[in-house]
Amino acid sequence: MDLTMQVRFLSCIILTACHGFLLTNKTGIPSVGTSAFTDYHYLMLTDALGAQKQLLSQMETFVLQLQNQLKTVNQEVKDLKSGNSAVHQSLAVVELKNETSELRVKTTRLQNSYDILQKKFDTIQNENNVLKHDNAALKSQITDSHNLSIHTKQQLDSLTHSIAASNIQNVTTIQSNVDTLTSQVKSRLHSLEQNYALLSKEIRTVNGTIKEMDQHVALTSCGKNDADYIGGHLIKFPVTKTSIGINNIAEFVKTGQFNCSKSGVYLFSVFVTRVGNGDSQFGMYRNDHPISSVMIEYGAKGNHFSGSGTVVVQISAGDILSANTVSSFRVSGTYSCFTVIKIY
Ligand SMILES: *[C@@H]1O[C@H](CO)[C@@H](O)[C@H](O)[C@H]1NC(C)=O
Ligand SMILES: *[C@@H]1O[C@H](CO)[C@@H](O)[C@H](O)[C@H]1NC(C)=O
Ligand SMILES: *[C@@H]1O[C@H](CO)[C@@H](O)[C@H](O)[C@H]1NC(C)=O
Ligand SMILES: *[C@@H]1O[C@H](CO)[C@@H](O)[C@H](O)[C@H]1NC(C)=O
Ligand SMILES: *[C@@H]1O[C@H](CO)[C@@H](O)[C@H](O)[C@H]1NC(C)=O
Ligand SMILES: *[C@@H]1O[C@H](CO)[C@@H](O)[C@H](O)[C@H]1NC(C)=O
Repeated sequence: MDLTMQVRFLSCIILTACHGFLLTNKTGIPSVGTSAFTDYHYLMLTDALGAQKQLLSQMETFVLQLQNQLKTVNQEVKDLKSGNSAVHQSLAVVELKNETSELRVKTTRLQNSYDILQKKFDTIQNENNVLKHDNAALKSQITDSHNLSIHTKQQLDSLTHSIAASNIQNVTTIQSNVDTLTSQVKSRLHSLEQNYALLSKEIRTVNGTIKEMDQHVALTSCGKNDADYIGGHLIKFPVTKTSIGINNIAEFVKTGQFNCSKSGVYLFSVFVTRVGNGDSQFGMYRNDHPISSVMIEYGAKGNHFSGSGTVVVQISAGDILSANTVSSFRVSGTYSCFTVIKIY
């Protein structure tokens, strides 16, 4: 402010000098080398004095203005110093203050943002460090794995080579052994199959024999009425007492021929009673061939005389057993019976 005042004074002095030059121009007096005063010159001087007075009054007015301005400026300075006169504060200062406070707020915000960013950066840096560490560990693991796989591959190669080299001989030996064993097993199997076939056949035969042996045959059949027979005829025994395992009993009842359908060893027994005096004879037959002959002799008393025969015969299926008269005589039906039993 002091500077401004000095400038204003200086410009005032310059202004005064200018008026002096105007004066000389107005008066028409040459500025340098004037030799004599005239009336004209006096008048001109008076005028000049009047003008000088005017100038002085102007100067006074100007100084007053300056004083006023100085007062105002002093007041402004005071106000500025005390800072409690918002009314007189210039708009620029208020704006500046406003801007300053805004800037402060913004600066605070920026500071906060910066702090947050710094924290985030720190976190990211930490994470990055952890990741770096993990990455290093992973790299190391990968290297280890790679090494391990190389090692394993080498082992596998050497194993394959050793297997290939040392075991070809073994494989050939084993193959040859297996071939020998296979052929032995085949031969043994063949002979076993043959044995089995033979055995099966034998078993079937034995089974058939057992089956036949297991089949029971038993018959006892007796005569009905007394009947006269001439020699060489089949004696009939139509009254059946026991019949087991016999299919064609009706044939036997009708003809007196016992047709053995099952082969085996049989007990064959016949007793015949003759009515009337005199010797008589009958025979036991298998397929028309006599097995046994029985003589019936008469005694001193009565007129019924009997004789019996018992034999064991080997029978094949289809053989015929029968009792035939040899001489002619009358046979008592009631006291004559025919018995056959298969023993085994
Ligand atoms: C001086 O006054 C004369 C006549 O009034 C004028 O022509 C001339 O320009 C003036 N000179 C100066 C320097 O003002
Ligand atoms: C100062 O700033 C506030 C908020 O930005 C605004 O409302 C007000 O008008 C401003 N004052 C001046 C004088 O610029
Ligand atoms: C991987 O194998 C190479 C060569 O065998 C060896 O030099 C290196 O030390 C091994 N690295 C590790 C991590 O075992
Ligand atoms: C295979 O060969 C090796 C070495 O030649 C031998 O030690 C091993 O007993 C053999 N194995 C068989 C099953 O022959
Ligand atoms: C024996 O004979 C019976 C009856 O005919 C039959 O069921 C069985 O299968 C036979 N067994 C054999 C070993 O032939
Ligand atoms: C005995 O019986 C068998 C079977 O039924 C038959 O084939 C055969 O002809 C019979 N024999 C006689 C002499 O009737």
